[in-house]
Amino acid sequence: MTTDPLVVFTPSGKRGHFPLGTPVLTAARQLGVDLDSVCGGRGICSKCQITPSYGEFPKHGVTVSEGALSEWNAVEQRYDDKRGLKPGRRLGCQATVQGDVVIDVPPESQVHRQVVRKAAAARSITMDPATRLYFVVVEEPDMHSPTGDLERLERALREQWQIDAITADLSLMSKLQPVLRKGKWEVTVAVHRGHKDEVAQVVEIWPGLHEDGLYGLAIDLGSTTIAAHLTDLDTGEVKASSGLMNPQIRFGEDLMSRVSYAMMNPGGDQEMTRAVREAINDLTTSIAEEAGIDAALIVETVFVCNPVMHHLLLGLDPVELGQAPFALATSESMSLPAREMELTKMNPRAQVYILPCIAGHVGADCAAVALSEEPGKSEDLVLIVDVGTNAEILLGNTSRVLACSSPTGPAFEGAQISSGQRAAPGAIERIEIDPVTKEPRFRVIGSEKWSNEEGFDQVVATTGITGICGSGIIEAVAEMRIAGLLDESGLIGSAEQTGTPRCIPEGRTHSYLIHDASAEGGPRITVTQGDIRAIQLAKSALYAGARLLMDEMAVDTVDRVVLAGAFGAHISTKHAMVLGMIPDAPLDKVSSAGNAAGTGARIALCNITARAEIERIVRQITKVETAIEPKFQDHFVAANAIPHKTDPFPELAQVVTLPAPSFNTGGGDEGSGRRRRRRS
Ligand code: FES
Repeated sequence: MTTDPLVVFTPSGKRGHFPLGTPVLTAARQLGVDLDSVCGGRGICSKCQITPSYGEFPKHGVTVSEGALSEWNAVEQRYDDKRGLKPGRRLGCQATVQGDVVIDVPPESQVHRQVVRKAAAARSITMDPATRLYFVVVEEPDMHSPTGDLERLERALREQWQIDAITADLSLMSKLQPVLRKGKWEVTVAVHRGHKDEVAQVVEIWPGLHEDGLYGLAIDLGSTTIAAHLTDLDTGEVKASSGLMNPQIRFGEDLMSRVSYAMMNPGGDQEMTRAVREAINDLTTSIAEEAGIDAALIVETVFVCNPVMHHLLLGLDPVELGQAPFALATSESMSLPAREMELTKMNPRAQVYILPCIAGHVGADCAAVALSEEPGKSEDLVLIVDVGTNAEILLGNTSRVLACSSPTGPAFEGAQISSGQRAAPGAIERIEIDPVTKEPRFRVIGSEKWSNEEGFDQVVATTGITGICGSGIIEAVAEMRIAGLLDESGLIGSAEQTGTPRCIPEGRTHSYLIHDASAEGGPRITVTQGDIRAIQLAKSALYAGARLLMDEMAVDTVDRVVLAGAFGAHISTKHAMVLGMIPDAPLDKVSSAGNAAGTGARIALCNITARAEIERIVRQITKVETAIEPKFQDHFVAANAIPHKTDPFPELAQVVTLPAPSFNTGGGDEGSGRRRRRRS
């Protein structure tokens, strides 16, 4: 039996005996304990911090004495003086084993640390990015055994980090020699290894130890908005989130109008490609500024997008996506250098990964939702709807997953709504209407106070009250229905019919006035009859898509509904039900998941094995094509009423009483009866 000391690591529980004097980092590596190191045990990166515990540990069967680790040494003291170590912490590469010991590896010292999602904490992300930092000591050149600097860097990476083969492009090569000499042959390199790559690529090199981190962008490129999350590739922390309107809107509000633009205007596709790439470049610069980092430290970008955005981003003509059989140029994932896509504001050697598409109308954004929400791992039948200008809809469980995309249009994102705007400070996001007085009260993004609360005016003095965003318009329409301002067919009543002067005539229809600052030169925020129609079209398309998947699955109900997308985490189940947006499900089984496509992008950014996983998953998803399915139209028409006429939630009556006025006086609704089908 060995007399070597026993080392027990927590939280992993891994244990083993090691000779006296073994560095804790070495013991951790031999046991496969997840303990980080960038400098390879040279005492300069501080990534290997551990916390030894002393005393009795009956659970582990050990007693740890004070001298279980070697004495605090000069390297630790130097680091402590310079940066400070938390009390009780040691550097795992410096402290050596002197007796039985229990060692805790804190989360920030774990390479594959778990990052818990802020919203809905349903899934944590395990950090395992494609690009990592490595500190290496490179052999100096020698006249007697002539080798190139790159070859000696390769050898150092092989010997010190077990990275076998590397490549470097010309722009990196031109930095290599001066940086090696400036660093006195000690350098940090950022090495990218794609999940299909045999050879790793050196993306960046710095003299000495690089301590400013590495970053990646997870970008959800939607038809209406572009949302980006700047993420620390070491910790997984989102440093900044930012978004802007997709400038392609000027070529067409929805996808099909952009495809038409490309068809009818020679070079139109290239114009749209240029516009979106410029926007991403601007977004890269602004988000890096917001986070206070150098944009050149952004070495990876992951995109999720629908197929038309996918093609236009890549510079591929999308015309084939405008007509059956909706052939994609490729449905495979794409890995390519950012500069090939003219993304010039990040690191010049940054790498891009684009998730695979599922089909001609079911894109990488839907794949990202599948990665984030994992319907294929659900025991019960789950319906996931991620709503943007297109709704990505997934239905499935462990036996089968179906997917489709439905053309909801941009109304749920606050676009094509008379007072609509993107979710930004100043936008109305919550609204309640008193069923008796018909008076509204609301909250804007950036304020916790309701508009009828004291101090509201001061809080919104900086942001103003600028418009109404996606979740706000949904609440407004549902609240109008609950308050009896809107009938089942979606008609807004007149002041006489509803008993409130807030219902004002507008042409042959009526609008409901939420906020009027026109006397002070501010906006007049109303919900118009046209807005109601846009929401009806959007929710009908959403419902019809979901229903089509249920038909395919041969079910009439689902066990669970997850709402994600433009609504963020804000949509209330009650309002979704009043609108009749989604098929029947038990009330407590309807939940919000925030931006699932964006989360999927973040997962693929932070974890390289997730890329292989989603590529496998999409091959198993059955896609249902809404564009050529005649039943879609039937479901769409049936879903037009508020709430849904043939599939109302039985539980809705327990939550709210809906009045049953009818404002149809035999004409006067410009939108009434308009049942158009569109594909956006
Ligand atoms: S491994 Fe870098 S300081 Fe210990």
